[in-house]
Amino acid sequence: MATRALIAAELQELLEPDPLPGVGVTWVPAGSATPAGSYAALVPLLSRVVGRAELAGLPRLRIVANCAVGIDNIDLDACAARGVFVTNTPDVLTDATADLTLALLLAVARRFKEGQALLEQGAWGGWDPRQLLGLELKGATLGIVGAGRIGQAVGRRAHAFGMRLCYTSRKPKPTFELETGALRLPLNEVLERSDVVTLHVPSFPTTHHLIGTPQLAGMRRGALLINTARGDVVDEAAVVSALQSGHLGGVGLDVFAREPHVPDVLVRHPRAVVLPHLGSATVRTRRAMAALAVRNVRAYLDGEPLVSPVVMPARG
Ligand code: DGY
Repeated sequence: MATRALIAAELQELLEPDPLPGVGVTWVPAGSATPAGSYAALVPLLSRVVGRAELAGLPRLRIVANCAVGIDNIDLDACAARGVFVTNTPDVLTDATADLTLALLLAVARRFKEGQALLEQGAWGGWDPRQLLGLELKGATLGIVGAGRIGQAVGRRAHAFGMRLCYTSRKPKPTFELETGALRLPLNEVLERSDVVTLHVPSFPTTHHLIGTPQLAGMRRGALLINTARGDVVDEAAVVSALQSGHLGGVGLDVFAREPHVPDVLVRHPRAVVLPHLGSATVRTRRAMAALAVRNVRAYLDGEPLVSPVVMPARG
């Protein structure tokens, strides 16, 4: 019987025609249930949950090649227990995500949304030296929570704008420190010192609501919060209250706790710039993510080392 694979239908136009020669591909649209059957490989989007129920319907599944760097949609323990390999798409989306983080940072710091609203409402009365004064990046402090690949790429960009950097990380990042002068500090000190805090940790049980009411209270009054990581890293309700009370001066959010739901209060708040999870949304990056996910499947099927493994059970 020919090997069979399930691939997210939305990836088809980003991939080469016939991306897995010799493999029978079923294209699965987002929003439809994961088909059960004798499939060896699954290439899901980050919106598809792959848990025990889905695995139970896929008895011959050997690899889940997530088309995302985040793997919070996948039950890694269940995959490991079933001997299913899991891969993700690191590196290829670092620059696109870091660019979008800087775009949000600038948009919030320089109050784009309020400026655009003035024009949309026909309420702009002309240049006024007091109008919509924002935060100048040069000399301001950026706190990077999670200085992995994306956090460091954001830091390098912010350094080029003249920002001072501090960061949290389980391990020191000496090269990053040398390049940018960044200072590694505990989370509470990063929050206390920063004019802008940007989040770049993955969604794990240990990072769930990492930024909640006490952490927000520990930030400077008027500081800005940017999140392009995962929505559940912040307590969304606490962020809304801190914004409404004026303790947070603004937020730039690309990710939300219950996507695609975005709290209306954030969509409408003048100091909240919200985007529909666009971090990696460039043509080059989305093509590279799709290609990398499929390359992992090909490598598995050919008995080659996986390109970007996350879960590595013994090969059966
Ligand atoms: C990922 O790959 O996890 C990103 O959130 C997609 O933009």
